[in-house]
Amino acid sequence: ALATAAPPTFHPSRLPPYPKLLDNLATVRKVLDRPLTLSEKILYTHLISPQDTLASAGRDPTKIRGKMYLPLQVDRLAMQDASAQMALLQFMTCGLDRVSVPASVHCDHLIQAFEGAEADLKRSIASNKEVFDFLESASKKYGIEFWGPGSGIIHQIVLENYAAPGLLMLGTDSHTPNASGMGCLAIGVGGADAVDALTATPWELLAPKVLSVHLTGELSPWCTPKDVILHLAGILTVRGGTGKIIEYSGPGLASLEATGLATMANMGAEVGATTSAFAYTEEMGKYLTATGRDQVRRQAEGAAQRGLLSADEGVEYDERIEIDLSKLEPTLNGPATPDLSQTLSQFVQKAKDGSAEYPVELSAALIGSCTNSSYADMARCASLAEQAAARGMKVKTSFDVTPGSELVRATVHRDGIQDTLTKVGGRVLANACGPCIGQWDRKELQGEKNVILTSFNRNFKGRNDGNSKTMNILASPEIVTAMAFAGRTDFNPMTDELIAPDGKPFKFQPPQGKQLPPSGFTPGNVGYLPNAMPEPNPSTEVVIDPQSSRLEHLQPFGSPFEDGKLTGNYELPPMRCLMRIKGKCTTDAISAAGPWLRFKGHLTNISENTLIGATNGENEKVNVVRDFVDGEGEISIPTLAKKLKANDQPWMVVADHNYGEGSAREHAALQIRFYNGHLILARSIARIAETNLRKQGVVTLLFENEADYDRISGGDQVETLNLTDLLKPNGDLSTKVMVRVTKFNDDGSVKETFDLPTKHSMSPAHLDWIRAGSALNLIRERAQS
Ligand code: F3S
Repeated sequence: ALATAAPPTFHPSRLPPYPKLLDNLATVRKVLDRPLTLSEKILYTHLISPQDTLASAGRDPTKIRGKMYLPLQVDRLAMQDASAQMALLQFMTCGLDRVSVPASVHCDHLIQAFEGAEADLKRSIASNKEVFDFLESASKKYGIEFWGPGSGIIHQIVLENYAAPGLLMLGTDSHTPNASGMGCLAIGVGGADAVDALTATPWELLAPKVLSVHLTGELSPWCTPKDVILHLAGILTVRGGTGKIIEYSGPGLASLEATGLATMANMGAEVGATTSAFAYTEEMGKYLTATGRDQVRRQAEGAAQRGLLSADEGVEYDERIEIDLSKLEPTLNGPATPDLSQTLSQFVQKAKDGSAEYPVELSAALIGSCTNSSYADMARCASLAEQAAARGMKVKTSFDVTPGSELVRATVHRDGIQDTLTKVGGRVLANACGPCIGQWDRKELQGEKNVILTSFNRNFKGRNDGNSKTMNILASPEIVTAMAFAGRTDFNPMTDELIAPDGKPFKFQPPQGKQLPPSGFTPGNVGYLPNAMPEPNPSTEVVIDPQSSRLEHLQPFGSPFEDGKLTGNYELPPMRCLMRIKGKCTTDAISAAGPWLRFKGHLTNISENTLIGATNGENEKVNVVRDFVDGEGEISIPTLAKKLKANDQPWMVVADHNYGEGSAREHAALQIRFYNGHLILARSIARIAETNLRKQGVVTLLFENEADYDRISGGDQVETLNLTDLLKPNGDLSTKVMVRVTKFNDDGSVKETFDLPTKHSMSPAHLDWIRAGSALNLIRERAQS
């Protein structure tokens, strides 16, 4: 039942620590004595000790950006239901009785779309009950705000409640940067990093480079902020933002609504950016007031006046791109990759001349998701639907609407927007991720080539309905809605006409709509609202059924260096090489998603997928290795890893370039360590994967000579010779670790032995984690002492 009570009482935990940040800004200015980017201001004012960290850098920004690890104090953390499981299981091993920063849990990813909001929610709650119960009880015990199933998608709820100018927050989801639309820095991380935040352990980030996107002009009526980021993705490609913050500036910024900035920040993840940054705008202030946070607005305005919330004049960026908003056209990206960018006219022309690789008929149109479900988005889509409805038209393909939150859903329902969309044939799904993350129980067209238009952010093959032949093209919700009335990809709503049921031509006028609801937001079902900043309740029992296949208590990993303190020996025990991985090895290849998502909270069960997508460089086969333990035949990779674990035999992996690229999926590191993997020796390793591995106590080294990659094979023995020089307390960071490789004959006798040089990029903090056996062990030791 809908209750429309007052919005939640504002809680002071939702205010960024402005006085402290302004004090720190004064220190940073004194130490660096140069103009600062906005990203630098927010990051450096969150340093544990700005003076100590920055003093050595002097005025030269290139000594920090891309070079220096920043130990940061995070203000807030948000976790979604799939990744929160492992984050909380890890936190529980630390032995603390409460979380140290404000945190929230959001149930959204596990809700499947099938029939419509009510029935889908009911079924998903029943099928995920044990997971939701676990998350709710752990939240209660440790003092975390719990947003249950039906309340909305993590990023929309964060935007409405927690995102605030100048804040530094983390989230256990790759689209966490969505919150940066509100002038903060929000960064996506894995569960082990989340535990840093939850325990107030300094969170380390390699200082990102800053890419400036300068906006001039104003968007034309058919264009939206989504088109800005779709266009930018085409320029930058999926890797162009890696290791960078995209900092938007210029006169064009002020004309964009705050929720539109969130859309742009959200999709910064698609170009690999750490996050995006926007100077404080009047529109952000209006959104803060509309969502019951006038206090934040007032304090943010004060901080903005004192220079915290924008870049300084004359600042130096690492790269610069200029976009004239008035020259942009509606843009569509895809299929299969979010950077395959084309203008609406190019897209339609391809369909008209038959050069498109997808069918002309649209099989589905989907709007909403965390990327595009603001009030403004929905209002503009409804304005198009109204025009069509006035001429008796309905959509010609299935048309699903996913509201981002109960606040948006209830408000668009009250204002008649939802009715307008359903009257033309739209179906409203639950306030959850649903079809955006494969939780779309789509029965039709499985295995068949078909094309869908969505206003979502990602379009990798199979992502939406598990059908790798479904081609997802990303666009603004307005373009998706208008094209749904044609049901075809060869229709350009800006220029083409449709024939209405009265037999006469119909042409869309550009969409229009209010950015914020004229009568304010209504919270809808207040039963979804959490207890703001709840006190921990230590007597709450955290429910994990020992028979469960989905949840399992985590056992801390032991340290292979336990004797180090006494003996001074910090060498890894002799390891066997599990395999030599060839080519691309993404986090998906190391820990597959899809049906395995069920086991995210059960390390033993999910580890059964370890490296099943990896290609063996010795036989070119995927998930097939030589069984050197029992001396015969070929077996799957997890089977060999399990055998080695059972024999208490440590192992290592040789990898090619960019091992672990793709996402922040921490299971890719946890599983390696769980099965007794201790070393990844690669040509190169993706940054987040590398940090995740070190956090779980896995040593990462790179070949000094890339050609040495071919010299190690499955079954070889690998030992470290002088890791001690690096790992002993106050060891020498410039140490080049040598590894000794021993090859064996079939009868087990030694065939040859040789040594190889390696290099590393581990910081003193990473070495602390590795010495302790994992970052968690270190946190626990500190908590106990
Ligand atoms: Fe959910 Fe899709 Fe966003 S999975 S968080 S709606 S990217």
